[in-house]
Amino acid sequence: MIEMRAFSFRYAGADRDALSNLNMTVDDGDFIGVIGPSGAGKTTLTQALSGLVPHRRSGDFFGSVTVNGLDTVNSSLTELALHVGSVFQDIDSQMIAGQVEDEILFGLENFGVDRAEIPRRVDKALADIGISPLRHRTIDSLSGGQKQKVAIAAILALRPKILVLDEPTGELDPGASEQIFRLLRRMNETHGMTVIVVEQKIMLLSAYAKKLAVLNDGVLELFGPVREVLRHSARLEEIGVHCPRVATLSNRLADLTGGALAVDLDEAEALVRGLLP
Ligand SMILES: Nc1ncnc2c1ncn2[C@@H]1O[C@H](COP(=O)(O)OP(=O)(O)O)[C@@H](O)[C@H]1O
Ligand SMILES: [Mg+2]
Repeated sequence: MIEMRAFSFRYAGADRDALSNLNMTVDDGDFIGVIGPSGAGKTTLTQALSGLVPHRRSGDFFGSVTVNGLDTVNSSLTELALHVGSVFQDIDSQMIAGQVEDEILFGLENFGVDRAEIPRRVDKALADIGISPLRHRTIDSLSGGQKQKVAIAAILALRPKILVLDEPTGELDPGASEQIFRLLRRMNETHGMTVIVVEQKIMLLSAYAKKLAVLNDGVLELFGPVREVLRHSARLEEIGVHCPRVATLSNRLADLTGGALAVDLDEAEALVRGLLP
């Protein structure tokens, strides 16, 4: 479980909070999509969960963030990493090894995974992400999207209880993005992994996440089940988050439909057919 209580963070030298008075509880097994315009504080939020904020970012930290009972301020990054696996927005800063296989081995060896278990974990992680053919490639020779997949594979191999990903599909085409989200759902459903993912593609988020967290100017504006958050399409557009068109349309038709909300094409079709004579 993750708990943020009156949590604020202001980077050293900044004149306003990057995150302001956040109160948020994330239950085990939840799947949360984080959205918000650029500069809203999404990356800062993910780094507060991995402990990089405040351990590697100087600034003023108020309130508390606890992860599986560990207070992030009083716990080491290594200790926190046993609970939270993170995929960074800046993928290059995440890569440690020169070769794909070594990148995955590195984490497994450092986290004390049983030696006999390691080869199986590497095979599985590569196959799950669909990058087995890249196994012996050098990291330098990969495209941005391929690097993203390697970073995700390396973290998944560790089987963290909580997985935090900061725009993991930024360099991926729609098909590959969908593939990553299907995998996240599988990890969430079959391993009970808690997933927190920052993502710009809101259609994708709405289809896969259970809850949405909307950040704006460091403030958690909305946080709840996907459907509840998408009801606020007017507010979302105001702060620069584009809702799925079908959700916006169904919200606009609320006077005719009694407020039924469509979040995907099938639901929109049913809604429109219901309105026709
Ligand atoms: N290392 C840093 N030093 C100072 N200010 C920062 C730093 N990183 C981010 N910020 C500021 O904190 C705010 C939130 O940034 P960030 O968490 O990166 O937002 P997002 O990921 O939503 O784009 C922004 O105003 C940004 O300029
Ligand atoms: Mg960011």
